[in-house]
Amino acid sequence: MHITSKELRRLWLDFYKERGHVDIGAVSLIGDGQTGVMFNVAGMQPLMPYLLGKKHPLGKRLCNVQGCIRTIDIDSVGDESHFTFFEMMGNWSLGDYFKKEKTQWSFDFLTKKLGLDKDKLCASVFEGDKNAPKDDETAQLLQQVGIKKENIYYLPKKDNWWELEGEGSIGTPCGPDNEWFYPLHDKSCGKNCDINCNCGRYVEIGNDVYMQYKKIGNDKYEELKNKNVDTGFGFERLLMYINGLTDGYKIDVFLPIIEYLEKISGYSYDKDAEHRKSMRIIADHMRTSTMLIGDVKGVLPSNVGAGYILRRLLRRAIRHARKIGIESINLVNVAEIYIDKVYNDSYPLLVEKKDYVLNNIKIEIEKFNKTIETGLKEFDKVISGLKRKVEFMQKSNPNYVSTKEDKTISGKSAFRLYDTYGFPIEMTIEMAQEIGYDVDEDGYKEAFMHHQELARNASAIAKSGLASEGEMETKYHTATHLLNAALKQVIGPSSHQMGSNINSERLRFDFACDHKMSEDEINRVEGLVNKWIDQDIEVTKEIMPKQRAVDIGAEHQFIERYPDVVSVFTIGGVSKEICSGPHVNRTGELGKFKITKEEASSSGVRRIKAILK
Ligand code: ALA
Repeated sequence: MHITSKELRRLWLDFYKERGHVDIGAVSLIGDGQTGVMFNVAGMQPLMPYLLGKKHPLGKRLCNVQGCIRTIDIDSVGDESHFTFFEMMGNWSLGDYFKKEKTQWSFDFLTKKLGLDKDKLCASVFEGDKNAPKDDETAQLLQQVGIKKENIYYLPKKDNWWELEGEGSIGTPCGPDNEWFYPLHDKSCGKNCDINCNCGRYVEIGNDVYMQYKKIGNDKYEELKNKNVDTGFGFERLLMYINGLTDGYKIDVFLPIIEYLEKISGYSYDKDAEHRKSMRIIADHMRTSTMLIGDVKGVLPSNVGAGYILRRLLRRAIRHARKIGIESINLVNVAEIYIDKVYNDSYPLLVEKKDYVLNNIKIEIEKFNKTIETGLKEFDKVISGLKRKVEFMQKSNPNYVSTKEDKTISGKSAFRLYDTYGFPIEMTIEMAQEIGYDVDEDGYKEAFMHHQELARNASAIAKSGLASEGEMETKYHTATHLLNAALKQVIGPSSHQMGSNINSERLRFDFACDHKMSEDEINRVEGLVNKWIDQDIEVTKEIMPKQRAVDIGAEHQFIERYPDVVSVFTIGGVSKEICSGPHVNRTGELGKFKITKEEASSSGVRRIKAILK
């Protein structure tokens, strides 16, 4: 069967709309900051509060096609099936229908709408463990709808359980899942070739998660009142499957890009493996970059957070453009093709922001073009230096055995490539690997930190003489972190900080909140802060690159305003925040915390004043 990307999108949404679902459209690719995840990695992420029981304004049956970004795959891009941006076709039951309907609908969609052969379709379900039971019910339902018994597999948690990972994942919904598999072709590799085989014949095409638990700790779960369904099917993968393709970059989304790259480079995608890899990297990275800049929360290249990922993608695409012998400015045209020909219907905002997107890509290309040439020469110099050293050693000692170090670029050199020529460290590593060399990554980090420390000291010296903070201010700084954490618990994770002001008499704290706090809420916040004070928790400080602070989920306000290296203050398991202020050593030093005022500050923002006694 031949199905275009535009048709598949339509088929999915229509199928679920016919079954009472509302298309909620796609949201930003940027994470909401609540889970500490930088990007949306799954369609369920923005729906978290609703999966946990909050009422969704559009009802209990929802569907969409949501863009997702998984940066973990950056280094794998270049093969036939990895993408940094992909779309997830999703549908949800928020405490409405459950396994019976879902197994039937997934089966019907795959076999009747997409024409997959029911006898070849395979499914896996959760085999159970001490935390949750074996999912016999789904297995039986799958058989009833028409999946062959021998095509149903019971697999352990590592395969058939879906949850978000990492620090911010506590409190998020999760559960056992039913994964769907289909063979790419009929030829068995001969070695127990089923869905567990690694030969590449079977690839997962999607999964139905039965989200009936809340993660309350590592391997700890609590049953939810709501029995939800969270479905995710990989748009690109499915498209590749149903069109009988084995190369994900042959789907119609990428075809005009590959054709364009072939035309201007003169290389053939099919015939030339090395250039094919570069073309895939360009196609993938330029798509993700276009989406990021064109996102509602519009990201621009920078040296931190999402901006750094964007910079890495664009600069890597630029290097690969050079590898296939094209002027990097042509990458602007690649973005334009995506906007005009591929995503014009499904991403109207991209079309609206077209000039902005293209212009910002152009700016980054021009910026990097100023240094890449000399940077590449510098890189070559570093390598010849290493080679000369080995030659010298061999000349002076014929029995010289070369060491790992002889083929390792020093941290200092890698830092120089970053600092002076704008080479993201990942790019230096990739270039080194291509010629059989390594990079001393720890040395790079050290050089990075050392450089930042020097810069920080210089600015501290420049600033000294300005107001120094006394004992009370110090206490209020720590109290502010506790207040921030308490508000997150009482009002909810969306109550982020909007402003803060401290003097020796009081603290003032502005935060997002759509209602006047009730007396009970105020009491609970006060109670929590005083409880933590009574617990006399240790306050620890750690200095780290800003990016790492973001990665470990440290609270922050305006990330772009911080220096590249920041201090993260941790108060036991209660709070973790980026902050430059002075802090007490233990919460017990604070005394008694009292909220003296709670008032509106501006629309959607409340202001608290509080004192320590
Ligand atoms: N949340 C599930 C996934 O990401 C559907 O695969």
